[in-house]
Amino acid sequence: MTACCFFSIYRYNSVSLGNSKLHKKHPLNLYLMNKQISKKYKSLDLFAGVGGIRMGFEKAGFETVFGNDFDAYCKITYDLNFKDVPLTVADISKVKSSDLPNFDILLGGFPCQPFSIAGYRRGFLDTGRGDLFFEIVRILRDKKPRAVFLENVKNLKSHDGGKTFKIISDALEDLGYHVKVKILNSVEYGNVPQNRERVYIVGFKSKKQYDAFEFPEPVKLSKTIADILEKNVDEKYYYTNSPLYPELNKTIKKNNVVYQWRRIYVRENKSGVCPTLTANMGMGGHNVPLIRDHKGIRKLTPRECARFQGFPDSYKLPKDFPDTKLYKQFGNSVTTTVIERVAKKISKALDVK
Ligand SMILES: C[S@@+](CC[C@H](N)C(=O)[O-])C[C@H]1O[C@@H](n2cnc3c(N)ncnc32)[C@H](O)[C@@H]1O
Repeated sequence: MTACCFFSIYRYNSVSLGNSKLHKKHPLNLYLMNKQISKKYKSLDLFAGVGGIRMGFEKAGFETVFGNDFDAYCKITYDLNFKDVPLTVADISKVKSSDLPNFDILLGGFPCQPFSIAGYRRGFLDTGRGDLFFEIVRILRDKKPRAVFLENVKNLKSHDGGKTFKIISDALEDLGYHVKVKILNSVEYGNVPQNRERVYIVGFKSKKQYDAFEFPEPVKLSKTIADILEKNVDEKYYYTNSPLYPELNKTIKKNNVVYQWRRIYVRENKSGVCPTLTANMGMGGHNVPLIRDHKGIRKLTPRECARFQGFPDSYKLPKDFPDTKLYKQFGNSVTTTVIERVAKKISKALDVK
């Protein structure tokens, strides 16, 4: 229900938010009560992509008040799924903090750009021109939310001998955040059969909340590759009539195993799960995830990629939309089930007074 539609129904029914006038069984009031109970904390969804981080946090009860990305294709997918607060398409460096609503937690799976100590210094002195991480720093400094959640590639921690990561944690600490960091693999923490190691950075202004926060424990993997695969897949995903078929057919022998095309050869993933999905997997020739099913050899479909990232089938994929864009969007996204588990822990920590 959109805010506007909600308010018109609200006016029409003349219901009051005060408990005394709530008719408890009225569906609208149930909706309202749920909203009051669960949406305790407001979040800002930066570098939002298709909203994987948003989805995890909303499932944990957070309310998104603003979403931003500069990719207009992401907006098509995002807005199809998150109608109440659609994506604002803009370069984040052009978004003024004063134009943002207030929020409790900043969320950002920011692009990892190498940056230097010089960049660090410039980032603070020269608002808007620093690396993208410093856009996060600028917004944190101006809006002072209670918490911050960042996600990035595992290598961010070891990049440049650990110097890059030190800049990030120092910058967050300089802003008054107490920071905890952990690398989580989706296969161990998200109950999805995808090997995806990512670094998660969580910071709190309150030392008590920081002390109360802990990353989730691993969960037993119950989903298999077979659970993820679609049954009736369009012919366009098959290589049956491709000149590459004879070569692929030599290596891709087993069903329910994900193989990966590595530029000039095909690699079997022996761990029994899907290798890390990447943004370039739809770009022909590199990292393309391949499988054999009852009809032949094919690529994973975009829906299967979404499932490997924990997106439920209720998450809509735009129609008449280039597959290459969908592969990029889901390769770039996050494992929503891991995010949800971390978000629930953050919510619990934020409850500590
Ligand atoms: C790693 S992806 C994040 C994906 C997201 N977590 C999701 O679940 O889909 C990084 C995103 O940052 C966006 N981005 C890169 N530079 C940007 C900028 N200057 N302003 C706004 N967004 C930017 C990209 O378009 C991309 O969608």
